[in-house]
Amino acid sequence: MKILVTGGAGYIGSHTCKLLAQMGYEPITYDNLSTGHKEFVKWGPLIIGDLHDTNKITQILKNYCPTAIIHFAASAYVGESVTDPFKYYWNNVGGTLSLLNGMRKTNINKIVFSSSCATYGVPEVELINESCPQKPVNPYGQSKLMIEQILRDLADKEEIKHICLRYFNAAGADKEGEIGEKHYPETHLIPLAIFSGLGQSALSIFGTDFPTPDGTAVRDYVHVEDLARGHILALEHLLSGGESDFINLGTGKGNSVREVLSTIKELGIHAISHDAPRREGDPASLVADKSKAMRILKWQNEYKNIKQILSTAIAWHQKTTSLTN
Ligand code: UFG
Repeated sequence: MKILVTGGAGYIGSHTCKLLAQMGYEPITYDNLSTGHKEFVKWGPLIIGDLHDTNKITQILKNYCPTAIIHFAASAYVGESVTDPFKYYWNNVGGTLSLLNGMRKTNINKIVFSSSCATYGVPEVELINESCPQKPVNPYGQSKLMIEQILRDLADKEEIKHICLRYFNAAGADKEGEIGEKHYPETHLIPLAIFSGLGQSALSIFGTDFPTPDGTAVRDYVHVEDLARGHILALEHLLSGGESDFINLGTGKGNSVREVLSTIKELGIHAISHDAPRREGDPASLVADKSKAMRILKWQNEYKNIKQILSTAIAWHQKTTSLTN
């Protein structure tokens, strides 16, 4: 069974393609390689193309007749979305509309969509469930919420069924070390902390005065392979006639920036860090209530703690960086 994966050359997309292939599906990657990596596409064909090219995507859908779409392709830097909002509405909302146009022309009516916990904004509760108010605080989160609304309206018309997966903080790497996190520029905590420990520049701890136990921000780090499995379960939910839905993917446990750094240290990587002011738009704490994913998708995170997650990230970065301590 063919599945078209937009953004299949990216971080979460490539891990999902690997698992799709292992489960007997054929992933067809559609990616413009603006941030993805050709060498991450190993489990099916790569079609280099842009989502805005409606004729091309429609032709690809006609040629391959995929049973469903898993849609990752997006611009995904929160900070950049604040300085260049148009890019985020154009690529994320515009690109998705073009894809949906192609799907409607070819009668493909199932999509698993990468949404984000960024759609919740600054939550008022400790554990965020899917009914919490969605008030994004940056254009990235807003663009994802707009797409959720479009999909909700299309599902009401029974045109296209969806599962929108709201991920928390994707982390870690493929346990076999074939693929991992590779962003240019890198802005995420875990890779930057590892790079610092491998001899690159010191890490800034953004904010030490948050209302959290140690004053640094708390995030729910979920292993990228667990996210990949969430996509397959969401796909199979739709294939077996399940209803459209919005589902969190997170572990339900949070770790502070300082906890991440001390665990990296326990694993033998000594990151150099210094305290710095808060980064604009960073909430104090984002932790998922994962009960809906467990109930509807029968999903459970296999990586249970931050140490297991970090050890796969360290192995990947040690393998792919030439710098050593
Ligand atoms: N952080 C630092 N120093 C750094 C980088 C990050 O202290 O150099 C802190 C951040 O302030 C934050 C935490 O580490 O508190 C995690 O930051 P990341 O940049 O790794 O991840 P974010 O939580 O900012 O972003 C992630 C995803 C987004 C998603 C967002 C939802 O990358 O796609 O979660 O809030 F939208």
